[in-house]
Amino acid sequence: MLARARSVALIGVDAVPVEVEVDVSPGLPSFMVVGLPDQAVSEARERVRAAVRNAGLPFPAARITVNLAPADLRKEGPLYDLPIALGLLAAQELLPAGALAGVVSAGELALDGTLRPIAGAVNLALLAAQEGLPALLPEGNAAEAALIDGVSVYGAVSLLAAVRHLTGEVRLEAAPPPEPAPAEAALLDLADLKGQTAAKRALEIALAGGHNLLLVGSPGSGKTMLARRAPGLLPPLTRAEALEVTRIHSAAGLLAARGGLVGHAPYRAPHHTVSDAGLIGGGSVPKPGEVSLAHRGVLFLDEFPEFSRKALETLRQPLEDRTVSISRARATVTYPANFQLIAAMNPCKCGHHGDPEKACTCTPAERTRYAGRLSGPLLDRLDLLVRVPRLTVEELSRAPETEGSAAVRERIAHARRRMLARQGTRNSDLAGQALRRHAPLAPGPEAFLRAAARQLSLTGRGYDRVLRVARTVADLAGSPEIREPHLAEAVTYRPRELT
Ligand SMILES: Nc1ncnc2c1ncn2[C@@H]1O[C@H](COP(=O)(O)OP(=O)(O)O)[C@@H](O)[C@H]1O
Ligand SMILES: [Mg+2]
Repeated sequence: MLARARSVALIGVDAVPVEVEVDVSPGLPSFMVVGLPDQAVSEARERVRAAVRNAGLPFPAARITVNLAPADLRKEGPLYDLPIALGLLAAQELLPAGALAGVVSAGELALDGTLRPIAGAVNLALLAAQEGLPALLPEGNAAEAALIDGVSVYGAVSLLAAVRHLTGEVRLEAAPPPEPAPAEAALLDLADLKGQTAAKRALEIALAGGHNLLLVGSPGSGKTMLARRAPGLLPPLTRAEALEVTRIHSAAGLLAARGGLVGHAPYRAPHHTVSDAGLIGGGSVPKPGEVSLAHRGVLFLDEFPEFSRKALETLRQPLEDRTVSISRARATVTYPANFQLIAAMNPCKCGHHGDPEKACTCTPAERTRYAGRLSGPLLDRLDLLVRVPRLTVEELSRAPETEGSAAVRERIAHARRRMLARQGTRNSDLAGQALRRHAPLAPGPEAFLRAAARQLSLTGRGYDRVLRVARTVADLAGSPEIREPHLAEAVTYRPRELT
C-alpha cells in the first residue's frame, strides 16, 4: 500500500514542497530510500527503523520503498525522518486515510523516538501558510514557526505524540505565537570610551546609513571597545526586515532554542580563525555563514588582516551584491547578505606605526606587506576609514564622557527615519538611478566633489560611496540638500592606501 506525506526542502532561505512517498509491499524485508544523497539515506533509514520500534509501533517485515520527490531537488538534513516514519505507518493503515494529506511535517528522530528540532522551521511555516495547511513539527521548533501568521503549528515531543495527534487520540494544542524576544541584557555604553571623537563620529555616520567602516589604530587604542558599542546604537528593525532576518536565523538552526522574532539588528563578530564556510556559508549541509547571519546588521571583523586572504577576497562579492552565492555539486544556493562591515586593524605588524610614544619596529617592506593584505578592490568597497590614536595615560584618566549611547542612538534613529521616509531604504542601499534621484547635487557641491574625485583618483565606485556617505552626513544634520561641508566630511573618510 502507498502513502504520501508532505514535507519541504530548503533552498537558501526558501522552502519548497517535497512529497514523501512510502510504499509497503509484500516481499523480502528491505528498506530502500531514493531521492536523498547516499550518506543521508543510510542515516535516515537507521534512525526511522529504531525510532519506530522504540516507540512501540510496528515496523513492517516487508519491502519498503521511500521516494522523496521531486528527485532532482537537492535535499539535505535529517528533516525527513518524521514524514518517512508517518508515511510508513499510514502505508500500514495505522493512520486514518487522508490524515497526512492535510499537514506539512518535518523533524529529526532520535533513536528512542523523541523528536529533535530542525533548521528552517520558520521557512517551512511560511510555505505551509501559503498552502493553507497546518505544520507538524518537533516541539522545539513550535515557537519559532508560530511566528508566521496564518498557520497552525503543532509541536510534538515524539513520534508517538505526532501519531496520536493524527489519529485524534490525543490532539496537540496549536502553539501560540511566541513572546517577543527579551531585550538584550544591559548594553555597553559609549560613555565608557574616552576621547576618540573622530572615531565615534565615523561610527555614528556608519550606523546611521549602513556604511562600511574601517578602524585603524595601535593596540589598546579602544577599537574593539568602540565596535562592541555598536549594538546599543542601532535602530530597531522594521517588521519586514525582522522577518527577513528571522528566516535566515531559522534556516541556520539558531532559533529553536529561543523562538521569537529577531527584532534587534544582528551583530556578529566571528574570530579571525573562522572557516571560509563559517564566514561565507556552505558546508556539507549548506548553512548561511556569518555574512548572512549579519544581514540587516553589523559584521564586526576584529584584527581584519589576520583573516585568511581567501576569506577577505570572498567578502568582495557580498559587499558588492548584498547576497552570497554558494556553489554546490548540484546547485547554487543564494543567501541574503546585506550587512554593514565594521573592521578593525593595527596600522602595521608591530602595531606602533604613527604612535607618538612607541617606535615602530617594522621595516618598510614589512609595512608594505602588512598593508598589502587588504587589496585595493577590497578597500574600494569600504566607505569610511578612521584613525584611532592611542590615548595617553592622562587622557585616559580624565573624567568620564558626558555624551552616552542614548543621545547618539537618538540621532542615528532620527537620520534613519529620514532615509526611510524619503526612499524606503538606508543610504547604503542607494544605487544607480535611485542614488542620483535621492542624493542630487547642486552645481557648486557637484564641482567640489568632482575636484575631490580627481585629486583622490576616485573610482566610479568610490565616487558613489562618497556620495552615499555625504547623504548620511546631511541626514544627520537634518538637511534635505547635500551641501559642501557634508561632502567635505565624507571625503575625509574615503579609504585610501594604508601605508
Ligand atoms: N578611549 C578609551 N577610553 C577608555 N578606555 C580605553 C580607551 N582606549 C583603550 N582603553 C582601555 O584599553 C583597553 C583595550 O582597548 P581595546 O578596545 O581592546 O583596544 P584595541 O582593540 O584598539 O586594541 C580597554 O579595555 C580599555 O580598558
Ligand atoms: Mg582590539
